[in-house]
Amino acid sequence: MSFPWRFVLLAASLMAAPSAFAAIVFDGVAAGDATDHDAILWTRADNGGSVTPLTAEVSTDPAFPGQPKIYRGVTDQAADFTLKVDAIGLSPNTVYYYRFSNGSAVSPVGRFTTPPSDHRAVPVRFGFSGDVDAKFRPFPSVDGFGTTAGGTQGLNYFIFLGDTMYETAATGSPATVATATDGSNADQALIDYHRKYREVLKGVAAGTGEVVDQGQQGIQSMLATTGLYTLLDNHELGNKQLQSGGAPQVAEIEGNQAGFDVNTTGTFNNKSPGFRTLVRAYLDYHPIREATVSAPKNPRSDDTIRQYFAQQWGRNSVLIRIDDRSYRDIRLPDSGIAPDGSLLPHARADNPRRTMLGKTQLAWLKQELLKANANGTVWKILVISSPIDTVGGHQDGKSWYGGYRAERNELLKFIADNKIGHVLFLTTDDHEMRTTKLVYAPSPGRKALVPGALQVVTGPIGGAGPDAITDHSFAHIVAVLNNPSTAVDNNPDLIAHRDPPIGLMGFPGLRDVFREGDPNAAAHPTSIDFFAPDRNGYTILDIAADATLTVESYGIPSFPADTFPQPTAPAKLIMRFRIALPHTGSETKPAGGHPVTP
Ligand SMILES: [Fe+2]
Repeated sequence: MSFPWRFVLLAASLMAAPSAFAAIVFDGVAAGDATDHDAILWTRADNGGSVTPLTAEVSTDPAFPGQPKIYRGVTDQAADFTLKVDAIGLSPNTVYYYRFSNGSAVSPVGRFTTPPSDHRAVPVRFGFSGDVDAKFRPFPSVDGFGTTAGGTQGLNYFIFLGDTMYETAATGSPATVATATDGSNADQALIDYHRKYREVLKGVAAGTGEVVDQGQQGIQSMLATTGLYTLLDNHELGNKQLQSGGAPQVAEIEGNQAGFDVNTTGTFNNKSPGFRTLVRAYLDYHPIREATVSAPKNPRSDDTIRQYFAQQWGRNSVLIRIDDRSYRDIRLPDSGIAPDGSLLPHARADNPRRTMLGKTQLAWLKQELLKANANGTVWKILVISSPIDTVGGHQDGKSWYGGYRAERNELLKFIADNKIGHVLFLTTDDHEMRTTKLVYAPSPGRKALVPGALQVVTGPIGGAGPDAITDHSFAHIVAVLNNPSTAVDNNPDLIAHRDPPIGLMGFPGLRDVFREGDPNAAAHPTSIDFFAPDRNGYTILDIAADATLTVESYGIPSFPADTFPQPTAPAKLIMRFRIALPHTGSETKPAGGHPVTP
């Protein structure tokens, strides 16, 4: 546990003129949406209710010698004293360090890397996870990120993937107000959501859940360790009617009657004051670039905050962040009940006019996939907030298969028909770790695998679900996987629904499979080697210069909600697998010096 530096600051300020340099508290730093020439830098400076003029310094040396690049700004009271600056004029393929200062108080130092500007075959190492519920503070699974936490050294970027806070109550952290679509309680909603984002950056007292300076300061080390690409999911949007940005403004949470399954009202939640207030709170607390979609012919998408984009990371990968929240039609109820009592995906999810992405984004995504395939980019990394695989009968109405099956199939069929290989979907939301192949319908009633496509689900960083499993023995997790009545995905249910079992058995290029507790994983991989429902953690991916993909999931055993344990042991390796490509050995050595060693 690091000594809380701000105490030092206080001492320092007592010696100096107390008023000018009152103890400014920096609630962490973060960098995000890096391109080959800029990145968004973020911090929060608590200055006793006053705004603070700050200077951000950026250098390739963590000691900031000489003349670092500087960017100025002032914290914004309306944004809960946070500040974002766009650090422009940066060099490609470079590791940068940054900090904020008001001339006396200095923030922690953060780090990020910029992608190469060309298609050089550089190794890229990145991670992802999400689901940060205040009940599981201080989030010990990510303590020591970048240092002691397994696999987190030398990351080029980290995808902070959805549910970046929860609006619900935890001990010492009251629930937010239920945000009205019409904005009638927008002021209180903004205050409440800002508080919830702030709390995940702070320490917490065991028992009371009170915010404290001591101990692990929430997810601060995870945010400062490397550059972020962040996605929102249902909880940032209140997990009620506003979670479906493309639903009618008059709609309730779920479409209990079919009238709103396809939004023909011409009104969209994403234009409502309530939705915009929640997105505002989210943008205030994350290093996210703010751009607007201009799509005059598509009222569902026009004049919304553009959260989707593609970022090339050398020759072997392109990161495609998808926004599957702002444009989606109303959520459908979870699975229906078949006459024999078994669970059945809702037929309404097959409605071809329902959309998850909106036509503007879907058309853009198809173009990005074709472009990546045409320019020889090996891995297309598609980041989504809701899982896209099939999970037997337990169809979550907010998942692609549970609520937006026709568009899901259109996208996967497009990938298959255009022979777009090595499409890797990354997601969270289900609060478990699983890796699966993807099936689609080449024609009505037929099921086939999408060649070369897979999905990796990881997390939670700290969320409900894994805490229901207290026996973390390998034998017990095998039992969970093979128990048809468990609430989480299980193989019997998948097989009963003609879905592929969990895992990548038989996937081209699969090798080096490892699973804690399974000595047979490498020689004879099975579903258990791709499944862990009982941990809090994250996943790290490496794409080597020869495009070999290594996927490693790390975690700590779950713990009960609202107990707020301090970290005891760093996250450790649970599962690993590799996907090797049938190589021609033609990769070129990058011009001028060695690849970036992040
Ligand atoms: Fe979640």
